[in-house]
Amino acid sequence: MVITIDGPAGSGKSTVARKLAARLGIAYLDTGAMYRAIAHQALERGFLPDDADALSGLARSMDLELDCGPTHTRVRVDGLDVSEAIRSMAVSRITSRVAKNQAVRDVMVEQQRKIGKQLGSFVTEGRDQGSVVFPNADVKFVLEATPEKRAHRRLTQMEADGEDVTFQEVLENLTTRDEIDSRHWSSLLGSGAAVVIDTTDMNLREVVDMLADYLSQ
Ligand code: DC
Repeated sequence: MVITIDGPAGSGKSTVARKLAARLGIAYLDTGAMYRAIAHQALERGFLPDDADALSGLARSMDLELDCGPTHTRVRVDGLDVSEAIRSMAVSRITSRVAKNQAVRDVMVEQQRKIGKQLGSFVTEGRDQGSVVFPNADVKFVLEATPEKRAHRRLTQMEADGEDVTFQEVLENLTTRDEIDSRHWSSLLGSGAAVVIDTTDMNLREVVDMLADYLSQ
């Protein structure tokens, strides 16, 4: 059983994917953690997040191991556990720039398919999982929410992390990213290929319940 969850930043897809995997007792493939691991390595080595050649070389050469439990993700790079380090603010800040690099994405897509094959059954989440990485997934979900609602969610998260940002800044950042990112999952919309859920007026539990209900039908 392969379940993909795609959608824009702030749609809640990471948390929903993790909770859904835990409820189903299957693995959760955290593809964001993989891009974070490359960004972390780039910082460690002093590479600029836009240095295409350095980053693609890095993606190809580093040994990235992912332990995909339903309730935890452990990440090792060249044998070293970086699970906590990849969640730092410094890494969060540059990961979307690193993830723009097509050569990096190509390497990640290949690795994600390999991990998927080993896992067998899993829930995976990212902006390209149902459209690009696992086009033959059994069930594809796309989570959406209004930009304002997503900005509110992001702001709450960032404030909890001690970031000093305004609602307007978060909203502008999200809408700019939407323009770049939506090309990934837009092919799933309107074609009936995915179950599209608007989570604007739903809490986390309601979303997970809805996805689980759909899967049990
Ligand atoms: O979900 P996250 O915050 O851990 O993702 C980290 C970054 O990686 C974020 O900028 C989105 C990007 N990403 C991506 O480009 N493709 C994916 N499949 C997953 C994440």
